[in-house]
Amino acid sequence: MKDILTAPFIREMCKTCANMYRLGWDERNGGNISYQVPEEEVAPYLDLQNVLRVIPMSFNSGYLVGKAAEESANKALELDATPLAGKIFVVTGTGKYFKNVMDDPETNLGVVRVAADGKHVELLWGYADGGRPTSELPAHFMSHMERLKVDPGHRVVMHCHATNVVAMTFVHDLCERAFTRTLWKMCTECMVVFPDGVGVLPWMICGNDEIGRATAEKMKDFRLVVWAMHGIFGTGKDLDEAFGLIETVEKAAEIYIKIMNTPIKQDITDAQLKVLAEAFGVTPRAGWLDV
Ligand code: 13P
Ligand code: ZN
Repeated sequence: MKDILTAPFIREMCKTCANMYRLGWDERNGGNISYQVPEEEVAPYLDLQNVLRVIPMSFNSGYLVGKAAEESANKALELDATPLAGKIFVVTGTGKYFKNVMDDPETNLGVVRVAADGKHVELLWGYADGGRPTSELPAHFMSHMERLKVDPGHRVVMHCHATNVVAMTFVHDLCERAFTRTLWKMCTECMVVFPDGVGVLPWMICGNDEIGRATAEKMKDFRLVVWAMHGIFGTGKDLDEAFGLIETVEKAAEIYIKIMNTPIKQDITDAQLKVLAEAFGVTPRAGWLDV
């Protein structure tokens, strides 16, 4: 067996978590990533017959301690992840800090396979201190299921607390058309990177089935979903794509926060956005441009 610490999928996760921490998007244990890795990419590094632990996909927030943690861990979820059965994911651990992933991937990450019942995951490697997958696993797995229906190449769900995106949800209308239009107008690249726009959810309690279902519902139409006063979800075929989507939205939100109280002398018009979309061969979400 090759050393899993040298596996590209572990190296990539370490680098991505370090970058997200560096950008200030993942304070404390904020943020989580799940990355589906094909069996043939994992097989050289792990004995796929050797299941270390079977972990229920329960509400298992790393914020909870003592009795509350025990109760929540035993609470059955409605989540049925059977469409993902047999698939292997690298998933950040609940309560784990992104800043620590690079130095100790075996404690802060886990490689898990979705069990045949769609209610458990089989731990193949990681969570070395007895840890568990992120508390946002329902949102991740339900989102994977929806994105795979629209894009068979989809593999990554990434969540973080991108600072300016969160700030924007306090001061901007949460209507997703209005929110997206503002972002599109903040930098020229936005229309090219996310012509399909961003979905927006109102404030909700995190870490449970309900927000998971609401997020997945949005994922039918969007690759990006903003959680008001909390953060953002990005998806993609690889870590770079999901990261790049979030990075671009965060940049636009940063510009919005910088200029929102300043008199505007000129902006990108809807007609210019239309020309831009045509030039780059992308299709803006229907009806979201006023042209
Ligand atoms: P976890 O530590 O369970 O991944 O939770 C972090 C988070 O961002 C919750 O939304
Ligand atoms: Zn969060």
